[in-house]
Amino acid sequence: MTTYRSRILGVGAYVPPRVVTNHDLSKVMETTHEWIVERSGIEERRWVDPGEGGAEMAAKACTEALEKAGVAAKDVDMLIYATLSPDVTFPGTGVFVQRLLKLGEIPCYDIRQQCTGFIYGLAMADAFIRTGQYKNILVIGSEVHSTGLDVSTRGRDVTVLFGDGAGAALVGRATDENMILSTHLHADGTEAEILWTESPASRNHPRITAEDMEAAKHYPHMVGKKVFKQAVTRMPMVLMEGMVTNGLKLDDIDMVIPHQANLRINQMVAKLIGLPEAKMHNNIQKYGNTTAASIPICLHEAIELGKIERGDTVALIAFGAGLTWASAFLRY
Ligand code: UT7
Repeated sequence: MTTYRSRILGVGAYVPPRVVTNHDLSKVMETTHEWIVERSGIEERRWVDPGEGGAEMAAKACTEALEKAGVAAKDVDMLIYATLSPDVTFPGTGVFVQRLLKLGEIPCYDIRQQCTGFIYGLAMADAFIRTGQYKNILVIGSEVHSTGLDVSTRGRDVTVLFGDGAGAALVGRATDENMILSTHLHADGTEAEILWTESPASRNHPRITAEDMEAAKHYPHMVGKKVFKQAVTRMPMVLMEGMVTNGLKLDDIDMVIPHQANLRINQMVAKLIGLPEAKMHNNIQKYGNTTAASIPICLHEAIELGKIERGDTVALIAFGAGLTWASAFLRY
């Protein structure tokens, strides 16, 4: 049987135009620009205006990814849409992107691995391409958080962190040494409730009540310190795992693109493993945490800035709700 290898052919990103600064948030809840910057590094984020959803943002990111790849929409043969904020309960949002881009009757997956979703999607695309079953796969991370946040002092610990946006990569067949080298996926549901949105829930009858809403169960909740500790442990581990698999030393890595949950987490990860600051790209300062979209948005920016060039060895690392964590190594 012929097997193939996959590579990233093009990357696109889109964020909504509305900028929400820390100062804007401090007008509607008890918080300060200084607190948010000191704890998370975030200075501003983008939030959608009414009428704009995850599918529309994703379609814009995909259009750019296809342009960058030089591949026509008609040649895409699968779509993988990673999100924790689907546009509607069902169907999955991927089909709306398929419709907007007129991709034809290709298979569309929606996957739910939160901040790790883009890397899980990349691993799926890599596997499908390796078998030869599909040739050009759009892997998307797209999130609308702003419509589901508690914009009051009660929700300030979580609300100040999240932003909206979308990123996409077209993954296709490798033709030379530039390829996805390996992916490493993990999950541990033991502490799933330390970062979750409890309602609405199909296990409840009815799925949501007025009492649930009064108790703010329809908003995301996080035990921040526990999540922080897990993130700074798991991300270095999964980076090391990829280095061992590929026989790479730290010096061999040109750029690390980490999930953008907290600048302090990423700086701590770099310090723990001894990675020079210049070898990690962060842009949480401008966009906040866009969960599944954060890695493709950050990867896109690093490429556009010329910080990543063809042939570079790049590591993507993520940690998030589930709990899930993952890495992907690629020669871009
Ligand atoms: O993408 C998914 C993965 N997510 C993460 O990895 C996030 C991990 N966690 C974190 O990044 C941090 O835990 C946070 C940034 C969320 C919070 O930082 P922290 O240093 O852990 O602060 P804290 O939650 O312990 O809160 C410290 C204080 C509390 O007040 P008291 O109890 O000390 O009086 C909070 O009530 O800060 C207060 N606080 C705020 N103050 C101003 C919480 N949120 C805010 C706020 N503005 N927005």
